[in-house]
Amino acid sequence: MVYVMLTREEEAMLNGEMGEGVRRAMEIIVALGKIYNASGLVKIESAHISGVSYKNLGDEGLEFLEEFASMGVKTMVEATLNPAGMDMELWEELGFSREFAEKQIRIVKAYEKMGVKTTCTCTPYLVENKPKFGQHIAWGESSAIIYANSILGARTNRESGISALASAITGRTAKYGLHLDENRLADYVIKVKCNVKGISDFGALGYLIGKRVGNKVPYITGIETADLDELKSLGASMAASGAVGLFHMENITPEAKIKKIVKDGAEEIEIEDLREAYEALNYDAREIDVVSIGCPHASIDEIGKVANMIKGRKINSQLWITTSRKVYDEAKRRGLLDIINEAGGKVIRDTCMVVAPIEELGFKTLATNSAKMATLAPLHSKVKVRFGSLEDCIKAAISGVWNDN
Ligand code: F3S
Repeated sequence: MVYVMLTREEEAMLNGEMGEGVRRAMEIIVALGKIYNASGLVKIESAHISGVSYKNLGDEGLEFLEEFASMGVKTMVEATLNPAGMDMELWEELGFSREFAEKQIRIVKAYEKMGVKTTCTCTPYLVENKPKFGQHIAWGESSAIIYANSILGARTNRESGISALASAITGRTAKYGLHLDENRLADYVIKVKCNVKGISDFGALGYLIGKRVGNKVPYITGIETADLDELKSLGASMAASGAVGLFHMENITPEAKIKKIVKDGAEEIEIEDLREAYEALNYDAREIDVVSIGCPHASIDEIGKVANMIKGRKINSQLWITTSRKVYDEAKRRGLLDIINEAGGKVIRDTCMVVAPIEELGFKTLATNSAKMATLAPLHSKVKVRFGSLEDCIKAAISGVWNDN
């Protein structure tokens, strides 16, 4: 029988001495520890909780959260929330139904009652939950997990919404997987032999790597420079096409800079061309209903680029730029929202085109510069997708059609 070593405080939590809600949360953590052969638990600095949209949770998820919140449990560490199914303020204006909105608001309130910050963003690291190198955390949301592990050098497994919530309540996670040094070494060396430039190219590269390495750790060589938006796109698509939780990049990511990070005998893969990804992620759609920018949620730089490109123009399809509240406020302060609104675009908070019920809004075709969005939207939102550069997407927003040339 697998034995997970607990401290006296952890035993007390498991025995219900700190209340029924804490007992249930600790039970989840210990069960995971047993499944993954963890020798014990580790204290965490923060949690990020996925599983927020009513579209994904349904009534069962809503009832579970309200029941849990009614037990009086409170988070022990900083805890932030992933995107919900709608903009929490503009939902009516955007066409979301009252029935959906009421249930979505109840879900967010249940999290709030437990002490979770209702940030509703998949880029908590851009706003207020930015872990430091070496810190143990328990995060849900695959794009945020891979960013925290790879770019920040923090340590988290790919948590589910419920396990991240249990960790937020107990302040602990089971010590296994990516919390341990030996599991952070690369299994594959990826030699990139082609030009990679811009968010869509980095997403295309991530798509190809994720497909090849599954849930293993890749070490990427051949990239000379990459900005943070490109790295967040790379990681997000790798985590979506595969199940990668951590990557390293020569001279760029922090762990690769300080020690030998590749396992002996690691397999080598060469990537010479990104076309395979662009072909796999493009459907046959010409008229574009909506252009989606901001997956993962847009940074202020991305919003600035879009504003520059559409300044003084009028768009013909819908243009949704999804982002966090803090970045939205900053974009407003800099006058970027006015430029985008005048062109007919929208900057939307709290949600995205995958977790929002966009089928109900009548969108059938979508263009995006995000390989993660292009991978998931056909499955989750039943839309035909065109995937290309930011320039291609803005041209499509202005003309209303996708141009292959
Ligand atoms: Fe974020 Fe939605 Fe993309 S949660 S990573 S914008 S699919």
